[in-house]
Amino acid sequence: MKTIAIDKYGTAKEFYTAEMPQPVPQADEVLVKVHAFSINPMDIAGRMGALGAPFTDLWSFPLVLGWDFAGTVAQVGDQVTGFAVGDAVFGSVSSAHAANNGTYGEYVAAGTKELAHIPAGLSFDQAAALPIAGMTAYYGMKHNLNLQAGQKILIQGGAGGVGLFAVQIAKAFGAHVATTASENHREMLEQLGADEVIDYHQTSPAEVLHDYDAVFDTVGDIETGLKVLKADGQLATIAGQPTPEQQHDQQKKVAFQFTNGSSADLTALADLVTSGKIKLTLDVHDFTVENVIAAHETIEAHHTTGKIVIHVTD
Ligand SMILES: NC(=O)c1ccc[n+]([C@@H]2O[C@H](COP(=O)([O-])OP(=O)(O)OC[C@H]3O[C@@H](n4cnc5c(N)ncnc54)[C@H](OP(=O)(O)O)[C@@H]3O)[C@@H](O)[C@H]2O)c1
Repeated sequence: MKTIAIDKYGTAKEFYTAEMPQPVPQADEVLVKVHAFSINPMDIAGRMGALGAPFTDLWSFPLVLGWDFAGTVAQVGDQVTGFAVGDAVFGSVSSAHAANNGTYGEYVAAGTKELAHIPAGLSFDQAAALPIAGMTAYYGMKHNLNLQAGQKILIQGGAGGVGLFAVQIAKAFGAHVATTASENHREMLEQLGADEVIDYHQTSPAEVLHDYDAVFDTVGDIETGLKVLKADGQLATIAGQPTPEQQHDQQKKVAFQFTNGSSADLTALADLVTSGKIKLTLDVHDFTVENVIAAHETIEAHHTTGKIVIHVTD
């Protein structure tokens, strides 16, 4: 099958088109014919060799990267229930999966823990954008921060892959949402429901926001988030490690979020999209090595808008 792989860790220029054997699903996995995949900052860290164990212990070269996919089930392992050949599905491959089974290829083997059916009204390109970014935001609002209607939340980095989901999910939950972004993203974020958009190049949120119930930090600026929180507020970060001092700040709860997604959460997320509560902002490209290189370089520049999706086949 066609894949886009690397032979060593390095810059995005390491990617090349490689013919690789199709992955063989284990008894508790399905084989998925990939119609689309999306790219996350985690892919960039993986390409650079920066993820460390367990990934680098399991991986070998040529290495096919990528976690998020949408496609059709091509084969079903003996122990799998609830999925059949021909089903349209989306999800994320297991973080600890062995080498040569990333999503930058025509087929991927996937477990069912983070696998769900694509509902009517959602395309493969749209579904491929949901798993890591959408699940991280949904898990943050629903299970980690337990966000309630009427609460005030600051989402740092509202225009990014995770941020755009977080802003809209928080609004769908009935919260008052403030977010940080560059000025060119203000209008889009206001249209998607953000109550306050703060251009972080000009103004620190700590100067204008006070006594917030929650902060969801997608950029790694924990110190600023802490200043915005009320005395017993809660901060979840997905982009930094809180120091011991920050974790013992008054009664505030501050922690790194380990996202533990599920098929049920993926389905709930997809329902928010098909019901119009989440609008997707996608940048879709064909399955070429040039487009994967460009996508990695764009994400590395840290100013993308929403999600970059690679369309593999109709
Ligand atoms: N723990 C987890 O489970 C988990 C899961 C997914 C992602 N992550 C991590 O979370 C982070 C975000 O992921 P992502 O997919 O959303 O990344 P992304 O799409 O690459 O984020 C890009 C966005 O970051 C914004 N940004 C950059 N610096 C900023 C700053 N100082 N203040 C506010 N906004 C800023 C940019 O906004 P402007 O252009 O408007 O400036 C841009 O829209 C990454 O570090 C990723 O590795 C963790």
